[in-house]
Amino acid sequence: MKNNETEINRRDGANASMWQAASINSVAKDYADQEEIYDTLIIGGGITGITTAYLLQKQGKHCALVEAKNLGFGTTGGTTAHLNTFLDTTYPEIDSDFSKETSGLIAEGTKKMIEMISTNVQELKIDADFEFKMAYLFSQNEKETKELQSILESSQAAGVAVSEADENGVPIPYDHVLRFENQAQFHPLKYITALAKEFEKLGGKIIEQTFIHSTELREDIHYAKSDNFTLQAKNIVYATHIPPGINILSLRNAPYRSYVLAVKLNSGEYPDCLAYDMQEPYHYFRSHEIDGQQYLIIGGADHKTGHGDPLKAFEDLQDYAKKYFDIGEISYKWSSQYYVPVDGLPYVGQLPGGDKGIYVATGFNGNGMILGSLSAVLISDLILGKENPYEKLFNPSRLKPIAGFAEFVKENADVAYHFVADRFGAEIIKSTSELGKSEGKIVEFDGEKLALYKDNDGKITALNPVCTHAGCIVNWNPAEKTWDCPCHGGRFSVDGQVLTGPPQKDLGSIPLEELESARNKK
Ligand code: FES
Repeated sequence: MKNNETEINRRDGANASMWQAASINSVAKDYADQEEIYDTLIIGGGITGITTAYLLQKQGKHCALVEAKNLGFGTTGGTTAHLNTFLDTTYPEIDSDFSKETSGLIAEGTKKMIEMISTNVQELKIDADFEFKMAYLFSQNEKETKELQSILESSQAAGVAVSEADENGVPIPYDHVLRFENQAQFHPLKYITALAKEFEKLGGKIIEQTFIHSTELREDIHYAKSDNFTLQAKNIVYATHIPPGINILSLRNAPYRSYVLAVKLNSGEYPDCLAYDMQEPYHYFRSHEIDGQQYLIIGGADHKTGHGDPLKAFEDLQDYAKKYFDIGEISYKWSSQYYVPVDGLPYVGQLPGGDKGIYVATGFNGNGMILGSLSAVLISDLILGKENPYEKLFNPSRLKPIAGFAEFVKENADVAYHFVADRFGAEIIKSTSELGKSEGKIVEFDGEKLALYKDNDGKITALNPVCTHAGCIVNWNPAEKTWDCPCHGGRFSVDGQVLTGPPQKDLGSIPLEELESARNKK
């Protein structure tokens, strides 16, 4: 890994989320004790990793947590932190693709996770702006109303506290509305930072700015290697949102980006609830106060990572927001990554094809705060040898050939298309002067395919555009100033550093001067 920092050093994109504006004392920079054999090494400092580390340490295990950048660098720093007892995979879908009992289990688990976060906040006295809220899900046409009715029936049968309502909490027209009780919201970075400090107080180690590029198992001990040192542990947890390297889970989870605006309203009337329409992709709403200022947070315009147009996604979201709200100022805008599991439920447990004692948690859809917490409970139970009702259901090696099969075929067709098509899709340029400032492009330059980026000072960075994961060609994301891979969601900074797995290696840099001088000699 390269150590030079770009402008991207707090989240995995150029846009700061509103959570990063809060002054949060970082955790202590710890040292790596190479002699120690930890019970568990957790890789990844988001809600899944930190909660797992905290739970295990609290149970008397000795753990270390390693984060490639800083805590909350990935999706936990970019979530809108809705805590729901309903998921993006609806209860009718879970009923039909799994079973009604499964719906009941999910309803119980999601409720317990809101309670667990609430209990942590109270008992540990965490100032994380945690609040219980009503959530409204509303339809806007006949088709959605029919679906809403089915959601009501399945949710109630699963034990979710939901009923019909005659308001939707936001100034947006609706046909019908469901109201879910005891939903919640919080400040994700304040929460995970406080939990991380508790983990440290209990004797856990946190090591930031350390990228684990490989692990090796010898005589029941895992050796986790970074460029600078090796850590030893009896168990490894990849809480990295998608496990690194070539793995079946990259084929079973499709990466998506979601877009968010945090805005000030001229009216000063902020919704006091969580709300969701049923469009595809759907929009989501809530309010949050930071340093005495209220903001309306609107999200949506999702698309597959490396596909679609990120600038247009922000524009569409902005147009949608302006249609219904009297917006005074757009204070923050950012995007974030999530993974849609092929059969609708997350993959949590032993890493398929991995060494024994390597655990993984992924496929949270847009419900990362709840499912990340649930995964942490499951993985810590697995490591502690305790029974857990989600072990079989979330088993990452499960095969569900019927549920999600059509989607599975489509996602993989996309991947195959990009494997072939992207190799021919470069723009031919004669000179780097054809590239605008702060612009990136895949170009063919003297017969070489390059990922070129020109910064605001005119400095050019040239990279090999072949993704180091499985060889697809990366695409430029002009909104986040990153190189995004259309195949499995790998993302890289403008100087080639891995920002988001599954790639384990940076994009290769290409000395442009050499190319130019070779051309001048021709
Ligand atoms: Fe798999 Fe790029 S992330 S090929």
